[in-house]
Amino acid sequence: MLEQTITVGLGERSYPIFIEDGIMENVGADIAGRNIASRYAVIADDYVASLYGATLMKSLAEAGVTAELLTFPRGEASKNLQVFAELSSKLAQIGMDRTSGLIALGGGVTGDLTGFLAASYMRGIPFVQVPTTLLAQVDSSVGGKTGVDIPEGKNLVGAFYQPKAVYIDTAVLTTLPVEEYLGGIAEVIKYGVIWDFEFYGFLERNLDAILGLQPDIIQEMITICCQTKAEVVAEDERESDLRRILNFGHTIGHAVEAASDFSIIHGHAVAIGMVAALRLAVLSGLCKRKEAGRVATLIHAFGLPTEIPADMDRERIKSYIKTDKKSVAGSVFYVLPTTIGKVVITNEVTEGQIDEILKR
Ligand code: NAD
Ligand code: GLY
Repeated sequence: MLEQTITVGLGERSYPIFIEDGIMENVGADIAGRNIASRYAVIADDYVASLYGATLMKSLAEAGVTAELLTFPRGEASKNLQVFAELSSKLAQIGMDRTSGLIALGGGVTGDLTGFLAASYMRGIPFVQVPTTLLAQVDSSVGGKTGVDIPEGKNLVGAFYQPKAVYIDTAVLTTLPVEEYLGGIAEVIKYGVIWDFEFYGFLERNLDAILGLQPDIIQEMITICCQTKAEVVAEDERESDLRRILNFGHTIGHAVEAASDFSIIHGHAVAIGMVAALRLAVLSGLCKRKEAGRVATLIHAFGLPTEIPADMDRERIKSYIKTDKKSVAGSVFYVLPTTIGKVVITNEVTEGQIDEILKR
């Protein structure tokens, strides 16, 4: 079996995260050794299946693990109840039973969809995550948030359901489009700002190595992000308190993403949202302007956007902020940094302050 890198400590639902360059070839043997299920369906979008399906299926076959590959069309548009129903039917048609398991091979769309299928099929079967985007490797594959979108909103139907193991192969990042990679970098920077000043410095020092996908640096970066996420999730699995800090940059970020009709991808919208939240923190007297500027400089240096597009309808952004699904009793909460490495969660942001940061 593989050498364990990190544990997500959730009592009897604890699980390991393995992070290694080229680990995909060893996933089969490790899964075989864990006795998670009698057979598996590997679920992947059609593009990831074409890139990595054969490698994973070979690894499983060589380890004597019975598995079938099921695919769906790539993209967020597939993270819905229709694809969920189609995949459920396929699982039934190929005879998957209560002793079967699922393997999510892909980005956050695949992980969320597969996790929700695992939570629901036969009232719950085990699953493992093999994340292939940076966003999925540092965020969505860890922590057990699963689900699908409905026309009324993203991720509105789902379940907290933890995987049995997460296998992170950093080598697959070499085929990831730059835009998607940078989207993941926004979530990486998030961890530095909300939790870990030292890690933030690591990102500043290693910018070129990170952009150049230097294997040792990438591995260290992903490991620190997963450690942070594991720590936060272990303390607050269901987001009743601490886990809310992971939403830094997401309140305004989601509104910008939606107001762009999703032409701005998630991570890029989060980058804009983080800078906006930092400006709110400065306006509220919580954070020094110099600190906020330092983060905006790093986000910009990575090639991520920092400004809300000038032609974007401000009233539309405001209406999306008001309907943020993380609101409680109509009150919108913001995660605002007090310094790099520390944040507070507050609902004391005024409409005037929002107008100020939305100014062109
Ligand atoms: P994604 O899964 O759609 O992947 C993005 C694109 O990259 C896809 O077209 C995919 O085919 C391609 N791709 C994946 N791996 C590749 C590789 N190694 N090489 C080349 N191409 C590759 O999107 P994503 O950005 O990974 O995830 C976004 C989703 O994650 C959203 O639905 C979001 O809601 C969800 N999410 C969930 C959580 C959580 O905690 N569950 C957290 C953050 C985001
Ligand atoms: N991505 C936010 C969370 O997992 O809570």
